[in-house]
Amino acid sequence: MATEEQLPMVSIPSMNDTHLEEMLIINKLDAAISDSNVEVIAKTIDELLAHTIIHFSEEEKMMEEGQYPEYFTHKSEHDRHVEELKSLVKYFERTKDPKAIYAYSKGNLTPWRIHHIQTMDTEMATYLQAKTSKA
Ligand SMILES: [Fe+2]
Repeated sequence: MATEEQLPMVSIPSMNDTHLEEMLIINKLDAAISDSNVEVIAKTIDELLAHTIIHFSEEEKMMEEGQYPEYFTHKSEHDRHVEELKSLVKYFERTKDPKAIYAYSKGNLTPWRIHHIQTMDTEMATYLQAKTSKA
């Protein structure tokens, strides 16, 4: 489980709010996994997927508006992650196996998110922030 202190902060406050909301969903997912609550796991991965799709499209809109040069690299990483979440949802629908979700959450989901925020999101926020303050 991640705590608020472990969540890297970027220079655009609305992005931090979105990242925090998502961390809370992931924590809810981890709790449901610990309880082996299949219904709550299913509901929470759906919620995470829906939230992630909106979150990424908001970031992509900001990048487009700011004519961010790394737009395509960043977007392709978003697309890849969304596809992975979609496969996870499908896999769980089929197997109802909390262990698979546990392995994904620990081994991939949380480390990937922290890394993505520390690298791509941080670079993007710093670039866009500098651009707006110059304008
Ligand atoms: Fe991102």
